[in-house]
Amino acid sequence: EEIEVLVFGSAIIDFICYTPRLPKAGETLHGHKFQTGYGGKGANQCVAAARLGSRTALVAKLGDDSFGSDYLRQLREENVNVSHVQQLTGQSTGIAQIAVSDDGENNIIIVVGANNQLSADDVFFAKALFGEAMVLVCQLETPVAATLQALRCFKGVSIVNAAPAMEQTPRELLELANIFCVNESEAAMMTGVASVSSIKEANDACKRLIEMGANTVILTLGPLGAVWGAKDSPGKFQHVPAPHVNKVVDTTGAGDAFIGALAHNLARFPDRTLDAHIAAACEVASQSVQLPGTQSSFPRA
Ligand code: RIB
Ligand code: NA
Repeated sequence: EEIEVLVFGSAIIDFICYTPRLPKAGETLHGHKFQTGYGGKGANQCVAAARLGSRTALVAKLGDDSFGSDYLRQLREENVNVSHVQQLTGQSTGIAQIAVSDDGENNIIIVVGANNQLSADDVFFAKALFGEAMVLVCQLETPVAATLQALRCFKGVSIVNAAPAMEQTPRELLELANIFCVNESEAAMMTGVASVSSIKEANDACKRLIEMGANTVILTLGPLGAVWGAKDSPGKFQHVPAPHVNKVVDTTGAGDAFIGALAHNLARFPDRTLDAHIAAACEVASQSVQLPGTQSSFPRA
């Protein structure tokens, strides 16, 4: 059967330290738990969609180390088509060093390793998948030139999750994406405003991102949900609230749960409104923050 959601992007092994609070510069802290997990924004988004029931494929690069072999096995387990997930000789699988505080905040350093080898050629090799998928999802943990090529070759609905944010985002990236999706800090960095935390500031940032070339912008706001706007309805911004969460355990990967769920909903229910898709994606993201870990916290349909 045909692939519904195609993800072109990253796969990374997460090393997560749970700690009372995030460390200051130069500080050593005692954490209370350590866990490895399957992560990377691309693979996370793919697994989120697969768990909801989408037929998914991932185009990604792993190293020829044990992390890479384990990851490949895990993706198969999650029912992801891995015909274009490649383990590269002499390369290391990407890793992420993640700190998660007791109040659920995190910070992350990624060393992307083999992910840097994802190239425009891979779009060519995976052209059958690009031809059949309904929704394409890309992020910014792999080289942007390859992402641009992926977007140019795709005729369905494309989502760009501009994470992590770049200092200088090429205008073409915004223009090529049908849906351009960022969180508060990515929106702030891209638009150059000091902070995006209120709905008003989010609306202004959406407006700015549309001026920068975006077609439809979704700006996620954590517990506040998301706001969105589109080029073809200027000045109109919608706010979609998120369900209330009693105890936030770990927000790592919540944005990826959102994107994966958004892709799943776009592919499966093309007749529903974007408001409905965003509400469904907020629901999935809010479930993920109530459990530890990244993929391990994503709900199943
Ligand atoms: O978005 C969360 C992800 O960011 C983690 O899984 C980590 O691998 C980093 O890529
Ligand atoms: Na989580």
